[in-house]
Amino acid sequence: MPPSEFLQSKAKKTEAALAHYLDSWSGVPDTLLEAIRYSLFAGGKRLRPALALGAAELVSGDDAPALPVACAIEMIHTYSLIHDDLPSMDDDDLRRGKPTCHKAFSESAAILAGDGLLTMAFDMVAETGSTAIVQEIARAAGVAGMVGGQQFDLEGEGQQLDMAHLQRIHRAKTGALIRVSLRAGAMAVHASDAQIDALTAYGEHLGLAFQITDDILDVVGNEEVLGKPVGSDTSLEKSTYPALVGLDESRRLAKEAVDAAIDALVAFGDEADVFRELATFLTSREA
Ligand code: IPE
Ligand code: IPE
Ligand code: MG
Ligand code: MG
Ligand code: MG
Repeated sequence: MPPSEFLQSKAKKTEAALAHYLDSWSGVPDTLLEAIRYSLFAGGKRLRPALALGAAELVSGDDAPALPVACAIEMIHTYSLIHDDLPSMDDDDLRRGKPTCHKAFSESAAILAGDGLLTMAFDMVAETGSTAIVQEIARAAGVAGMVGGQQFDLEGEGQQLDMAHLQRIHRAKTGALIRVSLRAGAMAVHASDAQIDALTAYGEHLGLAFQITDDILDVVGNEEVLGKPVGSDTSLEKSTYPALVGLDESRRLAKEAVDAAIDALVAFGDEADVFRELATFLTSREA
């Protein structure tokens, strides 16, 4: 199956489950519910849910047990985007091809929509009945994971960081959630330690390749296609791969990370081809 088709089929399942879950809520203030729906259903590649569902399918042949994981991680990811765009963070006006949440609603609604998505993500993931999965996701999204990475990212503005430092930012702010999508998806179907280790290695390399590509697209992307501003990193003097080593070397390092991601899947045989092709696809993407 081509990677684009794989992403679409997993997105369809995730979006149906998310819509069903939101329909089950009651007593939510209208503005808050509207702001959450606005950002959650604004499109997006749904990469992390696809990784969670794909990992479960690869290990067990069935992706259904990973659906709460897929939904929860997409809720956390969407919250991270809403907060990332706030004036006090990256101060961006366009996300997923639409005005950012704080532009469409208000800053306070965007903060609360993010808070709501993050909190309810753990209500969703509790449906797996696994405290180990809850802990995995909390740690990946939390202060030594994505949230910590966002702090490193902000502190890196205007700094000339070395490669090790830049990698640390990328692994935390983006890598951690991509890595845990695979791990938690596999855990939902009781994968073996060896299977989880292989998927973890794949996720670590993929996460790095993904954020390097995101940095490259901030320089060479097309705003209409990308659905978010181009040049935002440059104007904020962010520490990015293109800023540190230039575009050509960034592309080479992304390719190197993709090759390492593909190598990590060796134990899975042909069944993992869709993950191999996905890695290459994600570094040649335009959005
Ligand atoms: C954007 O993530 C933020 C990063 C961590 C690079 P995506 O590129 O996955 O954004 P959507 O979900 O497709 O909008
Ligand atoms: C975002 O990194 C990582 C998050 C945790 C949201 P960026 O700030 O580069 O993401 P974009 O480019 O705004 O999507
Ligand atoms: Mg940012
Ligand atoms: Mg940003
Ligand atoms: Mg970016």
